[in-house]
Amino acid sequence: MTTESIDAIERRAVMHSWCVLAVGRAPRIVGGEGAHFVDDHGQRYLDMSSLAECSNLGHQHPRVVRAIQEQAARLCFVTAAWGAEPRAHLAQLLLEKSGFAGGRVFFTLGGADANEHAVKFARQASRKARGRIITRERSYHGASYAAMALSGDSRTETQVDAASFGVLRVPPPYAYRCPFGTTNDPDCGAAAAARVGEVIDGAGAGAVAAVLMEPNAGTNGIVAPENFWPRLRAETAQRGVYLIADEVMSGFGRCGEWFAWQRYADAGRPDLMTLAKGLTGAHLPLGAVVLSAAVAAPLEHAMLYTGLTYSGHPLACAAGVAAVRVYEEEGLIERSRRLGADMRAELDRIAARHPVVGDVRGGAGLCGVVAWGGERATRAPRARWPTTHASLRALVDRARDAGVSFATRGNLIILAPPLVIGEPDLAAALALLDRLLGEFDWT
Ligand SMILES: Cc1ncc(COP(=O)(O)O)c(C=O)c1O
Repeated sequence: MTTESIDAIERRAVMHSWCVLAVGRAPRIVGGEGAHFVDDHGQRYLDMSSLAECSNLGHQHPRVVRAIQEQAARLCFVTAAWGAEPRAHLAQLLLEKSGFAGGRVFFTLGGADANEHAVKFARQASRKARGRIITRERSYHGASYAAMALSGDSRTETQVDAASFGVLRVPPPYAYRCPFGTTNDPDCGAAAAARVGEVIDGAGAGAVAAVLMEPNAGTNGIVAPENFWPRLRAETAQRGVYLIADEVMSGFGRCGEWFAWQRYADAGRPDLMTLAKGLTGAHLPLGAVVLSAAVAAPLEHAMLYTGLTYSGHPLACAAGVAAVRVYEEEGLIERSRRLGADMRAELDRIAARHPVVGDVRGGAGLCGVVAWGGERATRAPRARWPTTHASLRALVDRARDAGVSFATRGNLIILAPPLVIGEPDLAAALALLDRLLGEFDWT
């Protein structure tokens, strides 16, 4: 038996994600409850990012933990082609919540493979075996190879030849620094949606299998203008091209609805959507592709040459069923909408007090973005994406020392606390952010 400490083993043996291994010094987490998690020194942290924007139900939700335990005692696994009660139950719940009557659900292990499978199904159903997929620059759809190809992410673009995966990119609906040169949200949203139509026309609608995009916030911190998604739906529908909504982050209350596209009712309804993260509140790994009846129909009598050993794993699906019940019974979707509006109002007040804040976005639910804008007049970024300004990194470290965990990406703080966060905790975290902003030199 080794005498090496678990901390030393962690640092030497584990390959952590999205970090430089030699300098990684994240805390070791041993437990949690509600919106807090606890490290191995007993320090409690208020989680202002739901870890990876996924612990929507808070940590160790007792009902989900119990459902996993009960399912484990009954049946841990059945092969994916056979039946399992929690899998069927969860598929039915997802079809009900999305209003995709007559559709079908394919389960995956997370978001990346959900997006890859959505593309497979869109291509097979549209009979465009190598059909082009249109995605956004500055988007994130996962870190497996095909998901990296789908993502417009400068951090990973050299690792994969997106064109060989049939991916075409369009500029994002990023009104703050609009790639179309517009000066307001509606114009930027309209221009971005129109560009998708032009790119479909350029390639020929018969050659494009789908458009894959996030309906609301993604990890890139862009929140599309209100008119973008319904217009995008119209552009794709007019041309008979499937629209895939990547709801991996925006789903399950994060943006104030079960699924963010529902903000626009049927005018925003996609043909397929992908889910993960909040699907189990991250209690177990699970992703899903939800197909509308029209997409599922042509697949009914076709051979599906795809599968994952753990597709629809009973333990994960039992967690998913329990999670859906918790969202319903604790009113978490409505709660997210209400607290998201409060959070947005407070972030606007903070921005007014601190010129270093260039922009505040989001607030349809408990999902807000604070962008370090650099010079307000020019909007020139203070540090080039994806690097983080040293003072912003220091602010986050100081907040963590004070027991509040904020997530940063580049020059953004992504505020996405568990939907169960208490009002006093949310207010205290925002007050801390306000105070710390005043303590640093931002030049
Ligand atoms: C919008 C979006 N899509 C896909 C993914 C990938 O999900 P996963 O990490 O479960 O593969 C993420 C993860 O952050 C995401 O935010």
